[in-house]
Amino acid sequence: MYYPMITPISGFSKLNKEEKIDWLLKTYLQGSNIAEKVLKQYWNENEAVQQLHEEFTENTLSNFYLPFGIAPNFLINGKLMAIPMATEESSVIAAASKAAKFWQTRGGFKVEVLNTTKNGQVHFIYNGDREKLNRFFKGVKPVLFDAVSGVTRNMRKRGGGVLGIELVDKTKLISGYFQLHCTFETKDSMGANFINSCLEKFADTLKEEAAKFQEFNVEEKRLEVIMSILSNYVPECLVKVEVSCPVSELYDDTHISHGTFAEKFLTAIKIAEVEPYRAVTHNKGLMNGVDAVVLATGNDFRAIEAGIHAYACKDGFYTGLTHASVENDIFKFWMEIPLALGTVGGLTNLHPLAKVALEILQKPSARELMEIVAVAGLAQNFAAVKTLVTNGIQQGHMKMHLMNILNSQNATPREKEELIHYFKKHTVTHSSVSEQLERIRN
Ligand code: MEV
Repeated sequence: MYYPMITPISGFSKLNKEEKIDWLLKTYLQGSNIAEKVLKQYWNENEAVQQLHEEFTENTLSNFYLPFGIAPNFLINGKLMAIPMATEESSVIAAASKAAKFWQTRGGFKVEVLNTTKNGQVHFIYNGDREKLNRFFKGVKPVLFDAVSGVTRNMRKRGGGVLGIELVDKTKLISGYFQLHCTFETKDSMGANFINSCLEKFADTLKEEAAKFQEFNVEEKRLEVIMSILSNYVPECLVKVEVSCPVSELYDDTHISHGTFAEKFLTAIKIAEVEPYRAVTHNKGLMNGVDAVVLATGNDFRAIEAGIHAYACKDGFYTGLTHASVENDIFKFWMEIPLALGTVGGLTNLHPLAKVALEILQKPSARELMEIVAVAGLAQNFAAVKTLVTNGIQQGHMKMHLMNILNSQNATPREKEELIHYFKKHTVTHSSVSEQLERIRN
């Protein structure tokens, strides 16, 4: 690999976009015209839109597109919805649409938000007398609530705010480690800024009050705040979604009977429940659906990923998040996942496509969006497991991937048309596509 001699650059963020690209081309890309062309090709012609995107973050050079698609026919609590999804994975939207259509004629998805509490902690070190700390906390708790009354005013008007503040002794884990564990209701906003502002105010107030607390000695007055931050682990912000139908109405487009399909499906779910290697991939499949909607609606998919995978370990081991049963010949499939989402604030109202996505979803509340996202996750997992226990994923996946292979080999529209037709009846592999391309080119 060619690696150029590079000197560090200072003041990079102050350069304008053209200057940054220029530096990049000279420093890492040997002045490549192609790289420059590609970077600029993705600039939005509409200057206002381009500027908006540039201001989302620092050092923006271009935009990175993902396909924005739609999966129709989702019957959710009796309402028919089309779900917008942003994803690059070829088969995700097709699989979601298939699962939606299947369940639409079998009662649809029943979904319920169980609770919406979010949380955050002020982590601090106190090496003094525990009883004194307990007395201090009892006295300081109302002061903490008062200290954030300015920050919480608007949120309280919307029915949210700080729900509770608890002192938690963590000294068994780290000497002197305590925390304020704080709970919040943030209504339609995801609430990260609100929660972090409250926590930082709690931290300042805690330090100020400790310095004044008569019972503390000099050392105890120096209670040290380490950090204050929300948690993306939200096991009290849960949504439950389920589908069910008679076993006799399960798939009939496979080579196996309804009963065998149900049995194999249940076994696949059990394997994911007990086997972490499988559980991770199983959950990745449901996250294909979750992330695509989270992203399309301008929510923070990293937070959602972190929270859901942590929830998959809540009992001390990593497990699959979906469950299935057959009782009295009724097949039932369900899951419960934590989702801290917003439909106001952040990118949700700023990113023009996120706004459109929320309009497609009929401007949902955060609770409604939790329901929709959970449905997309369950649908995706159903489609994946159904395929795995019947035909295997490669057949369908490679068919969807065909276009990517054709594009990577610069196929013309006519070549694409001919080969899409050809591969309706043949197995798609990289080499078979190359061979067929060569055949028609000759
Ligand atoms: C691929 O993106 C997702 C799957 O691997 C999920 C699964 O195995 O359940 C098909």
